Amino acid sequence: MKKSSPISVCLFPAAGYGTRFLPVTKAMPKEMLPVLTKPLIQYGVEEAMDAGMNTMAIVTGRGKRAIEDHFDVSYELEHQIKGTSKEKMLADIRHIIDKCTFSYTRQVQMKGLGHAILTGETLIGDQPFAVILADDLCVNDDEGVLTQMVELYKKYQCSIVAIEEIDPSQTDKYGVIAGEEIEPGIYRVSTMVEKPSPEDAPTNMAIIGRYILTPDIFNIIRTTKPGKGGEIQITDALMEQAKSGNVIAYKFRGKRYDCGSIDGYVQATIELYEKGKRQ
Ligand code: G1P
Repeated sequence: MKKSSPISVCLFPAAGYGTRFLPVTKAMPKEMLPVLTKPLIQYGVEEAMDAGMNTMAIVTGRGKRAIEDHFDVSYELEHQIKGTSKEKMLADIRHIIDKCTFSYTRQVQMKGLGHAILTGETLIGDQPFAVILADDLCVNDDEGVLTQMVELYKKYQCSIVAIEEIDPSQTDKYGVIAGEEIEPGIYRVSTMVEKPSPEDAPTNMAIIGRYILTPDIFNIIRTTKPGKGGEIQITDALMEQAKSGNVIAYKFRGKRYDCGSIDGYVQATIELYEKGKRQ
């Protein structure tokens, strides 16, 4: 662990089908789509490790076994390339496997992000935890987004969502927040709406796939009724916490790529490739 962190567990909801990438996601988890030589979920795990977390709790589903194999040793492969120039290509993933514990549980029915997070309760218990949606790939030259959020958690000790300003026409793709700015770029949330139409959106401040949640969220999700799309939404559960002033929204430093869309995925691939060439 790089720094002492009040949060040691990061949850990865990874049961979704990835239909926007069909047919490639027919037999391959969308979290395993590569950006250059690393799968999306590895970027997320590295971001969580940089933020001081060493337990990765992954909510999987049918057809997701490749994720478990990725975060495990491959003796045949390691034996095969031992002593060759290729050995170093496994150094990063080997480091992750050595430093972290991975645990898995399956979401049997797809009932929304809130439901996926509740499914992870068995891996988390009664402690604050982070959530990464691996298809939001975040990069920053200094501290990663989750590291920034952990710093904020130390101060506010409540749930935190990462936000960015989006084109107002795009609000129906995101959870959208409104609130009072209490420090530059930091808001105490008063309203949260899941995927409002531009006419109904309170602002253009959209939640991206990084959360820190306090464990009381589990009981709240248990009583949260299905919302947008008939799914149990984490945005609706967080709105309950927000009613007592316990949700902060944070405009993070860095860049986020929506790798759940072809455009964002291609953009991430090109930009990370160009960046790699310059280093
Ligand atoms: C989910 C959340 C949404 C959030 C988004 C970030 O939506 O429900 O509030 O803004 O992730 O990526 P999804 O993209 O899974 O439809």
